[in-house]
Amino acid sequence: MSQETPKALWGGRFSESTDAFVQAFTASVTFDQRMAFEDIQGSIAHATMLAHQGILTAEEADSILEGLRTIEQEIKDHRFEWSVAREDVHMNIESRLIDLIGDTGKKLHTGRSRNDQVATDIRLWLRGVIDQALGELTRLQHALIDLARRESDTIMPGFTHLQAAQPVTFGHHMLAWNEMLERDHGRLLDCRARLNQCPLGAAALAGTSYPIDRMQTAELLGFSRPTENSLDSVSDRDFAIEFTAAASVLMMHLSRFSEELINWNSTAWQFVDLPDKFCTGSSIMPQKKNPDVPELVRGKSGRVFGHLISLLTLMKAQPLAYNKDNQEDKEPIFDTADTVLHSLRAFADMMPALEVNRDRLKTAAINGFSTATDLADYLVRRGLPFRDAHEVVGKAVALGVASSRDLSEMSLDELQAFSPLIEDDVFSVLTVEGSVNARDHIGGTAPAQVKAAADRAEARLTARTV
Ligand code: ARG
Repeated sequence: MSQETPKALWGGRFSESTDAFVQAFTASVTFDQRMAFEDIQGSIAHATMLAHQGILTAEEADSILEGLRTIEQEIKDHRFEWSVAREDVHMNIESRLIDLIGDTGKKLHTGRSRNDQVATDIRLWLRGVIDQALGELTRLQHALIDLARRESDTIMPGFTHLQAAQPVTFGHHMLAWNEMLERDHGRLLDCRARLNQCPLGAAALAGTSYPIDRMQTAELLGFSRPTENSLDSVSDRDFAIEFTAAASVLMMHLSRFSEELINWNSTAWQFVDLPDKFCTGSSIMPQKKNPDVPELVRGKSGRVFGHLISLLTLMKAQPLAYNKDNQEDKEPIFDTADTVLHSLRAFADMMPALEVNRDRLKTAAINGFSTATDLADYLVRRGLPFRDAHEVVGKAVALGVASSRDLSEMSLDELQAFSPLIEDDVFSVLTVEGSVNARDHIGGTAPAQVKAAADRAEARLTARTV
């Protein structure tokens, strides 16, 4: 990166050049160059509109557009010389335009300010990121739904308090995760709809005296409409906060999935096998296969939550309209985007290759007395009040603990000693299969319901437009 000190584009009223440290301290080009293509896109729309309105001649606009396209190519080819002395992405590109096409380049900034320019750039950049995140979310959801279908009658223990509670199907568990992601998708879509307005034309804060056409720039950039108020346009960063908030909830979900996968994949549990290519070994213990990908996703959730707090704190005391504080919005936004996109990608790639250890899952479901509630329900169906049934079954479980047997392994005589209401049809409710099959309603864990729920979930994905 070049450190040479050309005269600043805003240097007219200054009698001495900026202190070298201050120049570096106030510069943002080291990170905001990530928005270079959006910046060029915004400038192309602005110049096109200026020519359409007769504020620039057609020749001037053509020369500006050609210059901008040259710059775009230079950046793509990594030939562009970024300069800290030129402060930020906007002035690097504008200065280069003037280097390339001369005085006409100085006309691009007519009726515009970096304040509305940067607000436009971030919205464009973030809109692109949200579209990618929505795509990755859909890919991950497809993987979960496929897994749910494949494992719709695989029985596992369902947990409360991390104690085996009642048997559920593995497919049902996958669809629980899918519901969380469905809401995340909705949150990102909401955020996208609200950010998709064009601030260009707000200029520094008050609008501009040129006869601009804000509708045209909004349309050229694919925004649904221009923003309503010029002061709000240059100062609003709600969309960044909303994005980071939606990303935080999403990362919290991925972190919960990770926690479960790490437990399930452990030598103690052995519920699943994570594919080798998503794990790493230990440099000292040859037997180790560590679940690094879910562990990292769980770990990375923290930085996204932190960025949400950073952005809220950044905005909370800013008077209208633009303040340089806002330059601090970029790094939290960029890092949130990177973290979410990478985490989603890792999950979407990993889930289809998950191996499910059906025998272990079933044994774990049987071992935890997970059909105790089914026995209580059985007694209720025979007329016993639920609280009494709960007491009876509790005693049967105590015998099971003492004799190391599941309820289904006890004889009819033994069971009848707890309640004369028990008959030999009891064994059909004491099996884990009977237990899951009985929960046969919308939202229940019965394999038939899981298959139907998977169909509905898939139909929602198909109906999506983004
Ligand atoms: N680099 C600045 C930012 O990120 C661009 C806007 C600067 N505007 C200004 N009036 N200094 O916010």
